[in-house]
Amino acid sequence: MAEVVIVPDRQAAGALVADEVARLVRARPDTVLGVATGSTPLPVYEALPERLAGADLSRVQAFALDEYVGLDPQHPESYRSVIQREVVEPLGLDPRRVHVPDGSAEGIAEAGEKYEQAIAAAGGIDLQLLGIGTDGHIGFNEPGSSFASRTRVKTLTRQTREDNARFFDRVEDVPRHCITQGLGTILAARHLVLLAFGAGKAEAVAGAVEGPVTASLPASAIQLHPRVTVVIDEEAAAGL
Ligand code: GLP
Repeated sequence: MAEVVIVPDRQAAGALVADEVARLVRARPDTVLGVATGSTPLPVYEALPERLAGADLSRVQAFALDEYVGLDPQHPESYRSVIQREVVEPLGLDPRRVHVPDGSAEGIAEAGEKYEQAIAAAGGIDLQLLGIGTDGHIGFNEPGSSFASRTRVKTLTRQTREDNARFFDRVEDVPRHCITQGLGTILAARHLVLLAFGAGKAEAVAGAVEGPVTASLPASAIQLHPRVTVVIDEEAAAGL
């Protein structure tokens, strides 16, 4: 059963989760972090630099959950750019120790397997941050994804492309495909921390935490994991 923490607002969630990340990294300088994109984890990233001031981060590794396929890595909304801007630069992480799946056309055939190998070589992910899509996706594992799935190419749903259109000029500019850690990859992390804010996430959160474990709501896979913390505001908790 997930531990559910209801907080007053995003800042409180950011502070709480950043405290946990900082505690882990200070205790284990070779911590492997799983980092998520989207707007949800931003308060965590904003709170982290202050909490990690003076800590030795030279051995910390980070793995992103997912990436768009076919978007130039230099595009400001590629997840490589987002992770670079929101996590790597503010914290001063070693960019060589920060991994994002390769969504380029040239690399795509082997990208999934390579990414799995890199995670395994790092010793697995210690703490995985997760947001949740309005359709219950985690990473980019859309409804119907196998619980055993590993990093692979997926097609984005219309709903997700519409949700993410705010980061682009037009919905047509949102890539149609992505490469994402699988649900099996995510479940292999040692601690899952799922964050969600706002009424728009209430239904997905309720399904993830209390609903049946079903591929129709990929985030319900968290119920199979022994160590999950769900940090949400009142609005996102409304369905619990
Ligand atoms: C994207 C990401 C997910 C994220 C979701 C929610 O689809 N691939 O990792 O959880 O969006 O986004 P937001 O946090 O902006 O609501």
